[in-house]
Amino acid sequence: MTINITTIIGARPQFIKAAMISRSFSNTSNISEHIVHTGQHYDDNMSAVFFDELNIPKPGTNLNVRATNHGEQTASMLTGIEKHLLAHRPSGVLVYGDTNSTLAGALAASKLKIPIFHVEAGLRSYNRQMPEEINRILTDHASDILFAPTRNALEQLSNEGIPADRVHFCGDVMFDAAKYYGSIARSKSNIRAQLTLEDGSYILATVHRAENVDNPQRLSRIINELRSLTNNYKIILPLHPRTKNKINELELDLGDITVISPLGFLDMVCLEMNSQLIITDSGGVQKEAFFHNKYCVTLRTETEWTELVECGWNTLFPPLNSNTASLREIVNNFQIPKQRENDLYGDGDTSSIITSHISNYFS
Ligand code: UD1
Ligand code: UDP
Repeated sequence: MTINITTIIGARPQFIKAAMISRSFSNTSNISEHIVHTGQHYDDNMSAVFFDELNIPKPGTNLNVRATNHGEQTASMLTGIEKHLLAHRPSGVLVYGDTNSTLAGALAASKLKIPIFHVEAGLRSYNRQMPEEINRILTDHASDILFAPTRNALEQLSNEGIPADRVHFCGDVMFDAAKYYGSIARSKSNIRAQLTLEDGSYILATVHRAENVDNPQRLSRIINELRSLTNNYKIILPLHPRTKNKINELELDLGDITVISPLGFLDMVCLEMNSQLIITDSGGVQKEAFFHNKYCVTLRTETEWTELVECGWNTLFPPLNSNTASLREIVNNFQIPKQRENDLYGDGDTSSIITSHISNYFS
């Protein structure tokens, strides 16, 4: 029997996660995958570059949803995904993470009683102001099989009453991606030469979270803190379009920060691996810092990846909290922990574990 899986993706981090599991599916004779791209991210450097570079199968369907309001965006995706599912009637629907595309995919499948598989289940920030927090909770509770990337996530799902037989601790598919593409990035990326960077002489930064970007005070504090580092380091800031739009609107002065367009994954990984440290509000980038042995400053009041803070690889820098040390102090004084907990995110074989669970579900 062939298992037909419809994968719903739409945002940058989902393309990277899907690259690993799609590869694993294509090595499994009884699984056939159809990718639905919601269109949530659409610029070439936010979408097409990942499909090309990471050899992700071309989406069989692109819904091209372009709405900006969350309700309208999620509703348009829901309508488009439902039409697709009604026409194709897949064996199961696979969703990733916590974006509006994730929630739309889970809702559409649940209405049609199609089994839902959720990759990156059980993460919580406990900050219900974040759109992602609501997306995660709803998707987890709608899902039939939940793949938890960490032991904390596994425990969280149990605390929320989700039966243990629906939850599997599988490790983090982003760890698979870091291992697989890390060596490819080393040989293929020439981004350091393009930007004339010496190893360890620069800090890599990313900012895109709604709670930072949509709050003018927070955004200008972040930019000012990054600017304060430019006397000692090059600050490389691949700018998410959302952040770019807001910086232009507020006419914020970026000073000597090196602003570049969003990068393809291989260039991004290459910059991560050779940086002095990483400053970010991204979920994925926090973990990649750890995978590549880099210290991370997280521009948020909380993180879902608490184990990294507990182990000393990550520190939070809440942008408007006057009690925190300045970013400059943190950068001047950080220390990489002497010990490394190598098993936090599995062994780098998460994609094949997830594929086996999906296969077994139908056997
Ligand atoms: C979304 C996810 C967030 C994830 C992030 C990954 C939700 C609620 N948020 O946030 O969890 O961390 O993706 O990057 O799903 N834009 C473009 N071109 C693009 C994409 C976006 O110009 O290719 C601009 C548009 O003005 C758009 C805005 O960025 O309205 C925000 O995009 P959106 O996908 O709604 O949210 P993100 O901030 O990217
Ligand atoms: N990323 C990338 N190019 C960039 C910025 C990020 O390839 O210019 C990758 C990054 O390495 C990570 C993923 O995108 O794998 C994280 O996506 P993002 O920060 O947009 O979303 P989040 O993980 O916070 O949901």
